Amino acid sequence: MPHLTAVLSGAEIHKKVKALGNRISVDYGGQELIVVGVLKGAFIFLADLVRELTIPVQIDFVQLASYGSDTSSSGCVTISKELELDIASRHVLVVEDIVDSGLTIAYLSTYLKKFGPASVKVCVFINKTERRQVDVLLDYVGHTVKGGFLVGYGLDYNGNYRALPGVYHLKV
Ligand code: IMP
Ligand code: MG
Repeated sequence: MPHLTAVLSGAEIHKKVKALGNRISVDYGGQELIVVGVLKGAFIFLADLVRELTIPVQIDFVQLASYGSDTSSSGCVTISKELELDIASRHVLVVEDIVDSGLTIAYLSTYLKKFGPASVKVCVFINKTERRQVDVLLDYVGHTVKGGFLVGYGLDYNGNYRALPGVYHLKV
């Protein structure tokens, strides 16, 4: 039976998301932003974050398939749902639930840059540092952890636990 230990409560998450939203709104100084969420994990974080922004936003999603085990990605990443908005000359903010090896974000940045955006920045709710394989620049980070497997607030284990309002450490 998997065991869950609390890492962040819903109230703590709300504070962090609000702070990120404020910073992003200030940094983009009224410019229009295209927020690109990475399905499925980022859908809850993205929904909360965009409602804390005071700048005009358009929203799109991509989905990536990475072939790996239950708890780590293999690094073999492909796009399974393409971008739909035209991001040429637009400011793009990638919103992701968690960065672990960094391979997904590295792949996605390269993919997005091919469309000629004005800029690409990354906002991640959780930065998990211990298993980083590629050096990726994370412009906005909600929370940093060293390792462990986390679930809740969009994060899943085999499709489960995404709807939990808090973030938990899962011990299988
Ligand atoms: P990366 O390519 O190794 O950085 O992995 C990123 C993806 O792996 C995330 O978008 C998640 O889907 C998944 N992932 C990595 N660590 C965790 C975790 O602790 N909980 C849930 N999913 C995770
Ligand atoms: Mg993900």
